[in-house]
Amino acid sequence: MIEREIIHTTTASKRLFDVLQDVVQFLLLFLRIFLEMFVMLIQKALPKRLKDISGEVVLITGTGHGIGRELALHYASLGSTVICVDINEKNNLQTVQKAKRLNLGDVHSFICDVSKREQVMALADRVKAEVGPISVLINNVGIMPTHPILQQSAEEIQRVFDVNVFSQFWTIQAFLSHMEEKNRGHIIALSSIAGVVGLSNLVPYCATKFAVRGLMEALHEELREGPYRNMIKTTTIFPYMTNTGLCKHPKVKFPSILGLLDPKEVAMRIVEAHRSDALEVTIPSCLLHINNWTRLLPDHCGLMLKDYIDSGVESDLI
Ligand SMILES: NC(=O)c1ccc[n+]([C@@H]2O[C@H](COP(=O)([O-])OP(=O)(O)OC[C@H]3O[C@@H](n4cnc5c(N)ncnc54)[C@H](O)[C@@H]3O)[C@@H](O)[C@H]2O)c1
Repeated sequence: MIEREIIHTTTASKRLFDVLQDVVQFLLLFLRIFLEMFVMLIQKALPKRLKDISGEVVLITGTGHGIGRELALHYASLGSTVICVDINEKNNLQTVQKAKRLNLGDVHSFICDVSKREQVMALADRVKAEVGPISVLINNVGIMPTHPILQQSAEEIQRVFDVNVFSQFWTIQAFLSHMEEKNRGHIIALSSIAGVVGLSNLVPYCATKFAVRGLMEALHEELREGPYRNMIKTTTIFPYMTNTGLCKHPKVKFPSILGLLDPKEVAMRIVEAHRSDALEVTIPSCLLHINNWTRLLPDHCGLMLKDYIDSGVESDLI
């Protein structure tokens, strides 16, 4: 009887000790979060410290046009070695010529359909042999079929996933070993505001951009925990509609506040996000906060705000 009571008391005190330990750990976590937020507030008030990227070897996909071309020019202007990859040889060579005129970093052109796994694997070997291992991968390629779901053909839906999503899997798998060799790396992915909010006429496109967000968030976790711990950084970019021609029929209600972005400005913001090791960046930056706060509201309030902003794309079949 006494023995049973002693066992009971020991179990109860062990449970109490466990609970106290959990509470202390939670309070410590809370304190660390509070301190981190305090440090972040101070950092926000100070001028941004951007890391030097002149020694980086940066591979960018989709450099023949638009944001990719502007990224290539921006990285070259900062003295990085730039590897331009596109399916369109003529346009890619134009980008390379423009970048070479800056007379700063080394610039190379490679032709590849990044939606094809075997082409990407071969690209990784060629790049390593001809230029050396890369340290920065920018998954920029994207296409945008713009019409209602029932008018999207099976081939179109498959292709948009091949180009916008699977290409990113292939390049990550192909180039992680380059970064491992260098003992450092950074993977940057282009999602979109359409990867944060669903939009009509863009059902498959939005699904691909949400997929990129999921891919990058999970990849970040794996890199944080696995053998690449602290070696390889990730950044996901969510730009608003940009004036490259990709959005064929943009619908903008407030052009002075939320008009189409300039691809040069978008490229500049992406490089800044890379240089400050940001995890997720919307362009403009306020959109991520607006979306996060809006999702706390009841559903119909969010829809009212969406209807008020009334921006998106019209079908290209009209
Ligand atoms: N333009 C926008 O409004 C906007 C907004 C948000 C996000 N984005 C995203 O930014 C990225 C760049 O968009 P953009 O407007 O500069 O596009 P763009 O159409 O101007 O340029 C895309 C480039 O990718 C190349 N490309 C297409 N398929 C390819 C493939 N399979 N293999 C290799 N190269 C290929 C094209 O030849 C082209 O040079 C995309 O991921 C897009 O979804 C664009």
